Amino acid sequence: SARLVVLVSGAGSNLAALLAAHDDPAYGARVVAVVTDRPDAGALDLARDAGVASAVVAPADFEDRAAWDAATAEAVDVFGPDLVVLAGFMRILSPAFVRRFAGRIVNTHPALLPSFPGAHGVRDALAHGAKVSGCTVHVVDEGVDSGPILAQAAVPVLDDDDEEVLHERIKVAERALLVETVGRAARHGIHVDGRRATLG
Ligand code: GAR
Repeated sequence: SARLVVLVSGAGSNLAALLAAHDDPAYGARVVAVVTDRPDAGALDLARDAGVASAVVAPADFEDRAAWDAATAEAVDVFGPDLVVLAGFMRILSPAFVRRFAGRIVNTHPALLPSFPGAHGVRDALAHGAKVSGCTVHVVDEGVDSGPILAQAAVPVLDDDDEEVLHERIKVAERALLVETVGRAARHGIHVDGRRATLG
């Protein structure tokens, strides 16, 4: 089955969903390693409990961004990934990183791209007064949240939502979408034709 290396900065609920799915051989993919930029990431506990390898590549341990980025690429490459999954990874990877794993990096973003890219997709949709938001799983290119879209799911924005409540509603849809999309990508491959990406 396809080897997934998952990059995570936070709690790791999306990682947890992938770890729950990979126990089924029919899923066609398994998480072989978790790589994080944060020594305190909750995702490290999830990896340990699942018996999955992990690596911490913390920016503070490197002289500059380029050195951190190269070390992250090495840490990922060691595990021989078929797919690299950014599941709540909050740092921008360099063009060199993206080229090294070209067409094999997928990201999940908590908004309906191309609206509201960047670090605050949920907050920005709310501030804009959007009535619908959601999540996007896309192929990573050299821009920020700009790569070809693989899948999206919409959720309503309700009148009294705050960022936390809306994000939680999005994350319920997001976990299912990410698991489904990564599984299809693993089983059938990702095909990119210009801006348009398809699975299998
Ligand atoms: C997810 O909603 C993901 O889309 C978002 O962080 C959350 C991580 O949750 N990612 C970004 O905002 C990337 N810019 P998790 O750690 O519980 O999976």
